[in-house]
Amino acid sequence: MKRRKFIGVAGTTLLGAGVACYLLSDKSNFVRADTKKTELTKFAFQPDERELLFLASIAPSGHNTQPWFVKYLEPYHWIIGNDKTRWLPGVDPNQRETILSIGAFMQNLEFAANNLGYNCQFSILATTNQDENLVDVKLTKATVIINYDIKQINHRRTIRSNYLSDVFTKEDISYLTKEETNFIHYIPNTAKEHVWLNEQTIEANRIQAYRDAAQTELANWIRFSSKDAAKHMDGLTLAGMEIEGIPGWYLRNFYGKKDVLQKGFREQSIDKVAKQVAQSAGWLLITSKDNTVPTLLETGMRLQRLWLKVRDKKIAIHPMTQIIEETSTNRILNQSMGINQAIQFILRTGYLKSYPDPVTLRRSAEQFIRT
Ligand SMILES: Cc1cc2nc3c(=O)[nH]c(=O)nc-3n(C[C@H](O)[C@H](O)[C@H](O)COP(=O)(O)O)c2cc1C
Repeated sequence: MKRRKFIGVAGTTLLGAGVACYLLSDKSNFVRADTKKTELTKFAFQPDERELLFLASIAPSGHNTQPWFVKYLEPYHWIIGNDKTRWLPGVDPNQRETILSIGAFMQNLEFAANNLGYNCQFSILATTNQDENLVDVKLTKATVIINYDIKQINHRRTIRSNYLSDVFTKEDISYLTKEETNFIHYIPNTAKEHVWLNEQTIEANRIQAYRDAAQTELANWIRFSSKDAAKHMDGLTLAGMEIEGIPGWYLRNFYGKKDVLQKGFREQSIDKVAKQVAQSAGWLLITSKDNTVPTLLETGMRLQRLWLKVRDKKIAIHPMTQIIEETSTNRILNQSMGINQAIQFILRTGYLKSYPDPVTLRRSAEQFIRT
């Protein structure tokens, strides 16, 4: 074969092999819209029960662990449980965030149930954040229906990029803090506290990225490949972390748990956080009067009430909880903010030009129901 012809054939073969490899690879992020609506017949739910539980479960949770289960006592009467296999001891050793997340689940459930014509009666059973039986919930037919737009629940999501830097208008500040002014505080990006929160968020992320207990735990909850994401239906997917394009393809196909512990990964995450905090309208802090179970559940509900209404205003929310999670930064948080109450959430916030659809995954109701 002539040299030129050989190079041509070899080139075509290599290109073909490259295309074949790409076609066989994990080509796109697995997102909520890819979830198959298979009719699961394993559990005989009563009308509306399955839908209500799924709507409740699209609540946010740290690392998207979905730390709840639901014990089925009888039709429309359940216990909302605390699933210890889904705790995050590396960053949340006292299960504070677990209880807050379950509060968000309760708020979704209440709004969705009201909209379908049920009263939702909660009785708190737990006295500690570690108790398994958290809340008894009974749904009864309501005489008056309180309509709620379910789209708000379906469309809520965490957003991490493309924040604008405009501060919030007066009207939007009062819209966000309405009836909750004692517990929701807006720190605009012009305030000195904003600079402190930016710097300390980077610092707390740096501490956490090099704390192996936290980093190993993170590794266990990242779902790099679509296969892993579809298998677990929880955790931090690349789509959820907003990693798309070639970086997404590379991570989906070539990354695994052990890479999260490499220096490069730790440093890149800190750089990403620095870029994120540089973009915002400021921060929203959610405080509470104490740290009891009822108060934490109510604070999780408060977070969710806030989060469910921001999309209409094209306002994004991104919880960045590391300052609270790391002892050295948490110790100086209240004093630096001039706030006496317990600070339960630190939320980066800002306007967006366009609002993307939710992408994170959830287990089906069948997967978290217990009898
Ligand atoms: C208590 C709590 C703590 C969270 N902490 C963080 C955080 O520190 N960093 C972050 O990027 N997201 C954080 N999140 C957001 C979750 O990762 C997110 O809710 C989850 O992945 C599901 O995604 P979704 O909100 O888009 O449904 C937190 C959420 C909750 C409820």
